[in-house]
Amino acid sequence: MSKLVIANFKMNGSKEFIENWAKDFHEEKESNKTIIVALPSLYLSNFKDSNFNLAGQNVSNQSSGAFTSQLSAQMLKDCGAEYCLIGHSEARQYLMETNENIKQKFDQLAQESIQQVLCIGEPLEIKEASKTTDYLLEQLELLSSDQENIIIAYEPIWAIGTGLTPEIEDIQLAVDCIRGRFNKSIKVLYGGSVNSSNAANISAKTDIDGLLVGGASLNPKEFAKIAQLC
Ligand code: PGA
Repeated sequence: MSKLVIANFKMNGSKEFIENWAKDFHEEKESNKTIIVALPSLYLSNFKDSNFNLAGQNVSNQSSGAFTSQLSAQMLKDCGAEYCLIGHSEARQYLMETNENIKQKFDQLAQESIQQVLCIGEPLEIKEASKTTDYLLEQLELLSSDQENIIIAYEPIWAIGTGLTPEIEDIQLAVDCIRGRFNKSIKVLYGGSVNSSNAANISAKTDIDGLLVGGASLNPKEFAKIAQLC
């Protein structure tokens, strides 16, 4: 099974940056991974490169109507998105997203056959209190245990953008907890300060199905290396 490697650009880049990014990415040796690029949504329709799958970074929990500033799942699909992140900790924090909103987003994406990538992860105080698995299970309450075709990205909040990563055993513990919550086989990714120095170790020593890469994905050669090492 081909692993998934997702570049999450967050609110970074420009038209020119993205065009150059794709060129520079291709200069590195090819990997046989499924590469997904979560661009700022405005740029999705201009990004024509069949080597990449496109993802939205978020979606509205409504299908249409008077929701100024929001983008529907159908709009994302029109612009070429096959995947969409939901529940990213930055959206939970800055957009006050709740589990209930995130469930509605999950359903909106399902209606358009866009693959959801549900991000979950614990804050530092929960990790320090050794309550990570309880916290993850609470975040997963929005999904039925019979749900199929799920991709969950485990991203400890304290590891995002900090240069810190959990111990390998702690990643595997979280992954086991997430897999054990579902009756069907699901995909679990790891995200949080992934770079070309830690990608191989995390991939080889856990049974994750891929990586979600933020900051390091903005450097196309670095991201290409991560994709090879995953
Ligand atoms: P990071 O971000 O790789 O910069 O830690 C990961 C993410 O937020 O998806």
